[in-house]
Amino acid sequence: MAAVTMTVDDIRPWNDHAVRSRFPALARNAPPIYADAPGGTQVPSEVIDAMVDYLSTINSNIEGEFDATRQTDALIHEARADAAALVGGDPEGIAFGQNMTTLNFNLVRAVGRTLTSGDEIIVTQLDHEANVSPWLLMAQDRDLTVRTIPLTTDLDIDLDVLASTVGPRTRVVAFTLASNAVGTVTKAREIADMAHAHGALAWMDGVAFTPHRLVDVNALGSDVLLLSPYKVYGPHLGVGWIRPELAESLPAERVRPASLRPLGHRFETGTLSHEAIAGFRGSIDYLTSLGTGSDTREQIKTAFMSIQAHEAQLVDVFLQGLADIPTVHLVGRAGSSDRVATFGLRTLNVSPEQAARHLDAHGIYAWNGNFYAQGVMEALGVDPESGILRLGFAHYNNLSDVQRCLEALRTLGITG
Ligand SMILES: Cc1ncc(COP(=O)(O)O)c(C=O)c1O
Repeated sequence: MAAVTMTVDDIRPWNDHAVRSRFPALARNAPPIYADAPGGTQVPSEVIDAMVDYLSTINSNIEGEFDATRQTDALIHEARADAAALVGGDPEGIAFGQNMTTLNFNLVRAVGRTLTSGDEIIVTQLDHEANVSPWLLMAQDRDLTVRTIPLTTDLDIDLDVLASTVGPRTRVVAFTLASNAVGTVTKAREIADMAHAHGALAWMDGVAFTPHRLVDVNALGSDVLLLSPYKVYGPHLGVGWIRPELAESLPAERVRPASLRPLGHRFETGTLSHEAIAGFRGSIDYLTSLGTGSDTREQIKTAFMSIQAHEAQLVDVFLQGLADIPTVHLVGRAGSSDRVATFGLRTLNVSPEQAARHLDAHGIYAWNGNFYAQGVMEALGVDPESGILRLGFAHYNNLSDVQRCLEALRTLGITG
C-alpha cells in the first residue's frame, strides 16, 4: 500500500463537548475532575455497551462447534486485528493478557529460557517496575547480569550511559516509551537502534505512551511492545505485540494442547477475559470515530493527531499556570515538548498524601505515591513510601479542568 502523508487538514476539528459526552462518567451530574489518567482512564459508551452485549448475548469459551463459541473466536480474531491497527504491526504477533505486568512476566520467562549465564539485560531507572522486576527475577534464575541506565537531570534515560553500557553480551534493552510518573517521552528509536546494533532486543513498555500518541512498532523498531487498554479508554486488560519471527522462536510457557497459532496466542495462558476483549474492540471503535480515513489504522492515526494537538494545549496551560505557584514544583521535563500530560509534582508545605486529599476535597481525582516507578523515586531522592503527587490528563480533559486543578494547587497548604 502506498504511504499516505497526513496533514493537519486530515484531522477533525476538536470539540470538547462532543468528546466528553461520549463518556458516561463525565456526563454525570457534577462529575469529579479526572486528573488520574495515568492510573487508568474513563471509558466511552462503546466499551460499556460491547462488554454488556458480549456477556448478555454470547458469553462462551473458544474453539467449539456452536454459535456462541464461533462468535467468541471471531471476536478475538477481530480484536487482534484492532490491536494490530493500534500499534501498526502484524496481528499474528498480538497477545492478550490479564494486564501488562502479567503478560510481561510470561514473555520475560520465555525469553529467559533462551539466555545463558553471563548474558546481560539492560533496564532503566525511568521504567515502571513491570518492566524491571521480571528481568531482575529472571536474572537470578539464569545467572544473568542486569545493568540499570540512570536518568539525566530532566528525568530522561541517559543515552550516553546507555551507549557505553550496551555491548556484545547485551541480549535485551528493556525501556519505556514514556514515564508513568513524570511524563518524559523517551527517544525510543535511538534506543532501539543501539540495542539492534549489538543484536539485542528492543523491549518497549508502551503503557504510559499509548493513551496520548500514535504507536508504530515498525517505525519505533520494537521487538516487543506492551500496553494496557484500561489506560487507553478501554477495560482492564493487557496487550502485547511480539515481532512474529521472535514470537515463533521463543519457548513460551504454555499448556501442551493449546494451539500454536496465531503466534501471539502462545503467550496467552488459560481463558482470556472475553468481555474485556469485547470492550477493547469498543475502545477502538471509539478511537476510530475521532479520526478520518479509509481504514482503521488511518483513523487511529488521525485520531491521535487530534488527541496530541488537544493535549499539547492542556500541557502548555498547566505548565504556565504551575510556574506561578511557588509551593508546588514540577519534577522532570519543564518544556512542553517530548512529554505527555503526566506531571510529577513536589508539594512544599504538605505531603503528597495530604495534597491528594486536598484535591479530592476540591472534586479532583489525582494520585499520590510512587506509582511503581521505583527508579524515578530513587533518582529524585524521595521516600518511595510517600512518593510524589501526580496529575495526569487525557484527551477528555479540557482547559476548564486544567484551570480548576491549578486553582486547587494554589490553595494547597493554605485551605482545606
Ligand atoms: C508505564 C507502566 N508500565 C506498566 C504498568 C503496568 O500495567 P498493568 O497495570 O497493566 O500491569 C503501568 C501501570 O501503571 C505503567 O504505568
